[in-house]
Amino acid sequence: MARYSELVQQLYREGLAGRTSDLPLTAEGLEREAAGKLPPEVYGYVAGGAGSGATIRANLRAFTSWEIVPRQLQGVAERDLSIELFGSRLPTPLLLAPIGALGAVMPQGELEVARAAAELGVPMTLSTLSGETMEDVAAELHQASGVGWFQLYWPTDRDVAQSLVHRAERAGFSALVLTVDNWTLAWRPQELMHGYLPFHRGHGLANYRSDPVFRSRLGAGQDATTEAVVDLWSQIYSNPHLNWSDLAWLRAETTLPILVKGICHPDDARRAVEAGVDGLIVSNHGGRQVDGARPALDCLPQVLTASGSLPVLFDSGIRSGADAVKALALGARAVLVGRPYVYGLALAGRRGVEHVLRCL
Ligand code: FNR
Repeated sequence: MARYSELVQQLYREGLAGRTSDLPLTAEGLEREAAGKLPPEVYGYVAGGAGSGATIRANLRAFTSWEIVPRQLQGVAERDLSIELFGSRLPTPLLLAPIGALGAVMPQGELEVARAAAELGVPMTLSTLSGETMEDVAAELHQASGVGWFQLYWPTDRDVAQSLVHRAERAGFSALVLTVDNWTLAWRPQELMHGYLPFHRGHGLANYRSDPVFRSRLGAGQDATTEAVVDLWSQIYSNPHLNWSDLAWLRAETTLPILVKGICHPDDARRAVEAGVDGLIVSNHGGRQVDGARPALDCLPQVLTASGSLPVLFDSGIRSGADAVKALALGARAVLVGRPYVYGLALAGRRGVEHVLRCL
C-alpha cells in the first residue's frame, strides 16, 4: 500500500528541512532507547526471556540463515500487500501480538495501541492480561473501524473461561487466540532479579476485575481490592491440566475462529487440526518460556506441512520488513509483531506504535 512508503518520503523531506526522526528506525535502536527510558524492572519484563536467553538469540539468528533472492521486472508500481484472513481483508500481513500488562509500559497502554492499530488497519490481538477491559479496548478499536482479536489464557475455573470467551464475542472481537505454551511461568532471571511481575502490582488484570464470574468468586460483600484480585488471579489464571481433548469444549462455546498459539512441533499441529481449530500460530513466546528451544522460524516448515490448508501465522523474532518477508516466503500467512511495538509504545505511545508499524 502506497501509504507505507510515505514514511520514506516524509523522512527525506524532513531531512531537507533540517529535521530528523526523533524515533529510532531500527529494532536495535528502539530497544536501546526504550531501555534508557523504562524503569529497569519494566524493561526486564519486556526484554527478558527464559534462562540464559538462548532462545531469544536463536529466534533472531534463525532469520540470518535465510536470504532473499530478489526478482526483477515484475511490474511493481501497484503494490498490494493485502491478505484475506478468516473472511476479512487486511491491508498488510502484519498483526500485533498479544502482550500482557501494557499499562506497565505506558498508562492506558492497550488503548494507545488500539488507536495505532485502528489507524493503520492492523489487527490488534488483546491479551487476557490487559490493563484495560476488553470492552473498552474493543470500543476504542471499533470507533475507528479497527479489528481486534482476543487472546485467551484459559483459567482453571471453567466458568471464568466461558465468561471471558462470551464477553470477547459480545465485544466484537473477530477471532480467539488460545495460547498454549505458558502454563507455568518460566525461570526468567531479568524479572526475578527485580522480583517484578507486573500482575503482582495489579497491572494487566482489568479483564478479571471486571468479570462478573471472577467477581462472584471473590466472595459476597468482599471489596475487589488489588490484593484480593491478585490473590485469586494467581490461583486460577492458567490451567496446566488442559490437554487436546479440552479443545472440544472451547470449540462448542464459540463461533469465532480459534487459533492455537505456541505450536512448534508438527505432531502438535496435527492434534490442533484434529481438534477442529481454524488456524495456528508458530511461536515460542518470544523465547520467554523454554530456554534452549528451537528457533520458531526453524519450526515453521514442518508445522506447515502438518497443517494442511489451515492458515499458519508466525511470531518470535520479527524485527524488520525483511524478517516478515522471510516468514511469509516460508509459508506463513501473516506475522505478529511483538517486542518492537512495545518499545515504540514506551517511547511515544500511540505515535510510537504507528511508527514501528510504518517502519516495518
Ligand atoms: C508476550 N507474549 C504474550 N503472549 C500471549 O499469548 N499472551 C500474553 O499476554 C503475552 N505477553 C507477553 C508479554 C511480553 C512482555 C512479551 C515480550 C511477550 C508473547 C507474544 O505474544 C509473542 O509471542 C512474542 O512477543 C514474540 O516474540 P518477539 O518477536 O517479541 O521477540
